[in-house]
Amino acid sequence: MSANSSDPRSATAAASAKGGLWAWINKRLPVDSFISHELTGYMAPKNFNFWYFFGSLAMLVLVMQIGTGIFLTMYYRPGDAFSSVQFIMREVQWGWLIRYMHSTGASFFFIVVYLHMFRGMLYGSYRQPRELLWLIGMLVYLALMAEAFMGYVLPWGNMSFWGAQVIINLFGTIPWVGPALTQWVRGDYGISRFTLNRLFALHVAAVPIVLLLLVVLHLVALHQVGSNNPDGIEIREHPGPDGKPLDGIPFHPYYTVKDIFGVGVFFILFALVVFFVPTFHGLFLEKANFTPHDPLSTPAEIHPVWYFTPFYAILRAVPSKSGGAFLLLMALVSLILLPWLDRSPVKSIRYKGWMSRLALAVFVVSFVGLGYLGMQPVEPLYVILARVFAIGYFAFFWLMPFYTRWERVKPVPERVVYHAH
Ligand code: HEM
Repeated sequence: MSANSSDPRSATAAASAKGGLWAWINKRLPVDSFISHELTGYMAPKNFNFWYFFGSLAMLVLVMQIGTGIFLTMYYRPGDAFSSVQFIMREVQWGWLIRYMHSTGASFFFIVVYLHMFRGMLYGSYRQPRELLWLIGMLVYLALMAEAFMGYVLPWGNMSFWGAQVIINLFGTIPWVGPALTQWVRGDYGISRFTLNRLFALHVAAVPIVLLLLVVLHLVALHQVGSNNPDGIEIREHPGPDGKPLDGIPFHPYYTVKDIFGVGVFFILFALVVFFVPTFHGLFLEKANFTPHDPLSTPAEIHPVWYFTPFYAILRAVPSKSGGAFLLLMALVSLILLPWLDRSPVKSIRYKGWMSRLALAVFVVSFVGLGYLGMQPVEPLYVILARVFAIGYFAFFWLMPFYTRWERVKPVPERVVYHAH
């Protein structure tokens, strides 16, 4: 394969051939070859749509959370947690902005990641050969949940304290080792300053490192197998005479430009929340967390932040505590197993049959419904509804091996379908 003048690789090769500092660096560090393999030379399907904005946005939010987090850590003190957060809000220059960016960033992280995961479900991006990519994604998601939970405890408001109480007590439902494990995790007989101190260490150092590492692995796995697309067609199976996929376009500049547009829209929405509704009416920052923690006063309603409430509703839908904890675990395990539950001959929802479409709709309604119910008080009607939605949630996963095989699917075209706008 010869490099011609339109080949982006020839441009970077020429740059390093020029000599000077750039060539000096490239002899010692493969910057040019990284760019030409992973950016200008990474062929992405030409039919990416709206749903493909959220991977790059998730990376943006990750970087933003780490950046704002480092500045918060300069003033936050676990030994004087609640007051140090008030100090950041009132005294530290721009402290309010950094904190609101970080707290809003947590919610936006989950919005972006949920949309990113939903895209995978729409187009069967978890299917062979991308199972490991999905699994690494699920590890990212679990690490993200741990990170968000621990971050929520740090301001040491009353909901921080009682939330930590509920979540850490879940370890107690594990047979045999439960109680000892709970005590070990807490580092004390109850939730205490020792618990807070270790959650701080994990939140600012351990979990961010794991998250960064997993995201790098996620991208390495993606580039190994190539991106899926809304048609669920493998573009690498249709190479042109130059060996490149006929339906592929270089990631840079085409998708870098597209992603920058996404970043612009993202920042507009993000700024609207940060500057005008940072608490988002109690959804992003809860009322009970504006009062200091008080082990003698349980908030009237304990519930986690919105992004955990679907799972929290599943937990509460079962009368026995250990049964609820088990079902919560199964809700996550079901997501992990998705690549092996889907037996359809086609990947994308575009070509799947009506059963898959209905099942996906049931899943979305159930997940959103559970999310709403997880924020409501435990009243009989709500509990019944939570059970109905929990059944909807699990039916989507566990009936999948059957309905994906029974239903009639539409013929998949040879090449990707793309309408220029
Ligand atoms: C910090 C969180 C995450 C980051 C930064 C991230 C980043 C990315 C990026 C940049 C891409 C390529 C661009 C795109 O397809 O949008 C991607 C693709 C993908 N991600 Fe993630 N991701 C994250 C979490 C997850 C999670 C939680 C899952 C699912 C469990 C997941 C599953 C996938 C899949 C299946 C693809 C391939 C999609 C396709 O080609 O159609 N990711 N990710």
